[in-house]
Amino acid sequence: MTATHGTGQETPQGTPQEPGQEAPEGFLRVEGQTKFLETFLPVRNEVLHDFYQASRTSRAPRADQRKDLRAAVRLLGGGAKDSVPDLYRLYYNRLFSMIWLALNWGPYTPEIRQVADPQQRIHLSQVNSVDRCWQPAVESAPQDGLLIEVGTGLSDGWARIAHLLPQVEIVSLTIERDQAEIGRRIAERLGLSDRVTFRVGDLFDPATTRDLAGSADAVTAMGVIPHFPPPRKAEGMRAMAAMLKPGAPLHIFDAYRVRPFSRFMHRALISSLCWYPTGDELRAALAEAGLSLTRFDAYDAESCLQFADDTRGNDQLRREFGPVVAWVFPNVVSRFMKGLLTPQDSVYLSAVRR
Ligand SMILES: C[S@@+](CC[C@H](N)C(=O)[O-])C[C@H]1O[C@@H](n2cnc3c(N)ncnc32)[C@H](O)[C@@H]1O
Repeated sequence: MTATHGTGQETPQGTPQEPGQEAPEGFLRVEGQTKFLETFLPVRNEVLHDFYQASRTSRAPRADQRKDLRAAVRLLGGGAKDSVPDLYRLYYNRLFSMIWLALNWGPYTPEIRQVADPQQRIHLSQVNSVDRCWQPAVESAPQDGLLIEVGTGLSDGWARIAHLLPQVEIVSLTIERDQAEIGRRIAERLGLSDRVTFRVGDLFDPATTRDLAGSADAVTAMGVIPHFPPPRKAEGMRAMAAMLKPGAPLHIFDAYRVRPFSRFMHRALISSLCWYPTGDELRAALAEAGLSLTRFDAYDAESCLQFADDTRGNDQLRREFGPVVAWVFPNVVSRFMKGLLTPQDSVYLSAVRR
């Protein structure tokens, strides 16, 4: 993977910065990431399975499957009219977890490209993406510091960092209640409940984070800013930055448009309540939020596109959703990801309050 351009303090991909403290074992390395996946993935998948199994009507599995298929088609065909929490509760959490580890993508490193199994490549690219995004915090936050994650997703972010940093406290915030409950159950199963807490709320509601103002050694958000409506990007970033201790960094993994989306993607993104800014708009929002960039590592579409090709169904998808969804959904998602990634650069950025 090649960094296409950047400003601020950049480091070669995969090489930890000058250690303020020693990087944890396995950090940014396929071996360490594989080990993490071996522990995390079976627990995450079992928790998800149990969580959703309980909500299904066991007497009408075919009706459930038809409902799931309709939901997938409606969402990806641009016909859904839901709120952000609805989108996650009704579609993303469950359907996407069966083909992806998380709800986000990650650029491929040369090391990851060499892994034979496509599903494992997808998982590794996402864990590596967590490592990259949180890298400055992993390397320089106090060992017993407080890290705040905005966007719990499917729990890979906080779980990876809790695994790497055995003393930090983590607060993970999400607007969608099921993600928090799933996170709680995973944390319990992994023996991490004493130092990871989950919070459900809207970042735009000051009550959600008021008590956390000025408390974090780092705040991290991966794939969250696209959900902020265009006129509210700076407001959302300011709300995240308000949780930082003086001088502490905000770390973001996201994407920005370098070309227009196709008409299909434009529609699909609006129905997914996602608005990707241009690079200039992203920088302008950061400046308006009172933030100064200290890192801007950008990756062109080529770095991530294999992610779309590697998207496939697995046995669990077939078992839980039936053969039609198991065949159709990964193909539709793969096409969706190509349309999403091709006109964009992905970026790891860090910023501090001015
Ligand atoms: C695309 S998912 C990314 C999840 C995870 N960070 C990852 O990389 O896989 C977006 C996340 O942002 C959260 N989110 C979106 N808008 C939010 C808001 N206004 N307040 C709090 N969380 C929000 C969602 O609940 C979801 O967890």
